[in-house]
Amino acid sequence: MTTDAAVMAGVRLLDTAGEPGAGLRYAVAEPEAALEAIAAADVRGRGGANFPAALKWRAALRERGPRVVIGNGGEHEPGSQKDAVLLRRHPELVIEGLLAAGTILGAGKTILLLDGRLAPLAERLREIADGFGPAHLGLPAPEIVIGPEEYLVGEETALIEVLERKPAKPRFRPPLPVVKGYLGYPTVVQNIETLANCAWVLRRIAEDPAAAPAVDTFLWTVWGPQREAVVGESPIGTTIGAVLQAAGVEAWKGVTLGGFSGGAVSAAESDLALEPARLAEHGLSLGCGSFRVIDPGACAGALAQEVMEFFLAASCGQCVPCKAGLGDAARVLAGRRGRKVSDLTDMLDMFSELEGRGVCRLPDGGIVTTRALHRRFGDDIQAHAERRCGCGREVG
Ligand SMILES: Cc1cc2nc3c(=O)[nH]c(=O)nc-3n(C[C@H](O)[C@H](O)[C@H](O)COP(=O)(O)O)c2cc1C
Ligand code: SF4
Repeated sequence: MTTDAAVMAGVRLLDTAGEPGAGLRYAVAEPEAALEAIAAADVRGRGGANFPAALKWRAALRERGPRVVIGNGGEHEPGSQKDAVLLRRHPELVIEGLLAAGTILGAGKTILLLDGRLAPLAERLREIADGFGPAHLGLPAPEIVIGPEEYLVGEETALIEVLERKPAKPRFRPPLPVVKGYLGYPTVVQNIETLANCAWVLRRIAEDPAAAPAVDTFLWTVWGPQREAVVGESPIGTTIGAVLQAAGVEAWKGVTLGGFSGGAVSAAESDLALEPARLAEHGLSLGCGSFRVIDPGACAGALAQEVMEFFLAASCGQCVPCKAGLGDAARVLAGRRGRKVSDLTDMLDMFSELEGRGVCRLPDGGIVTTRALHRRFGDDIQAHAERRCGCGREVG
């Protein structure tokens, strides 16, 4: 559980100022200039993929309206708490971002999907939305929906399915949601932090049209089985060691990135800059900024097993990488034979065949993180699979 006391002072977004509503009014008055400002500030997706928001919005604008904008408040990536903190700390900023996106995109509908854990915030968010006077500004009032507490609901097409009252099962692409999404309308889905960043940029521009705001920080959550989650904010490019230090982590053996989806590094890499291009060179990604600490002495093999079992349990099972691959990998990591693979070497070969072949990217997260853990902590993983590690985790 994250408490407000554990939240670090932010350097930009968490300590945001600016006049509530100023960014929205700017978007209503100057939608094209507002879109330009969001592009120039390099607002990127904070739900995991780091995709430029303005590019997605322009793609949706090429489609015939009406369009739909959805705020993704799923936040199911293991450990992540930053969206919840943002919604508690700056709810007006998130709602302002959602309404501004709706304005710029000419949306006929805006929806904010919250995970069930955030249901107590729904009433307050509705009041804030009413306070912006959306009808007065010619905007539809946002619909606030409480979704099921399932990992896959965070995946944007599964989320659209859920909003259409169907099970959380990702859709085949194409068509992309920006072409055909919620009820067949062009649909833009953005993460909570992304929407807050849009509002932050527009407030800055509204205050000073000559300002050149840049989204140069990211929110993170540092957590572990034995530690309370800490949420904070750091400049993009801060080293992983500095983030962990800011979170009060004194000693660590390693850390996973992007919850369980972005890979892992060891303490020997503490100088690694958390910058998307730099991370990509190492086959890693920042994802949603959730870092799971591996404490000194902890068994990285047990963690690899936990990661794979997490994805196996979360999968909807409609395609091969999940149906065949995740179960086999989980078995091998637990020291048993899989149906098609019998050891860790086979498992790594299988990963190369399966990566990128799912309807959604759920299995890729498990593959990237397990591969990264194996590269850094291969001895632990081998010892765990052979039950020599003594970690006590139930295997097989
Ligand atoms: C398995 C899976 C789970 C996801 N879970 C989340 C989530 O909980 N929250 C989120 O914002 N994005 C999540 N995403 C990413 C979304 O599909 C989508 O890319 C994102 O909401 C788009 O917003 P953004 O560009 O602002 O990040 C997930 C993706 C996958 C493949
Ligand atoms: S890749 Fe896995 S989770 Fe994603 S749609 Fe296919 S079976 Fe479901």
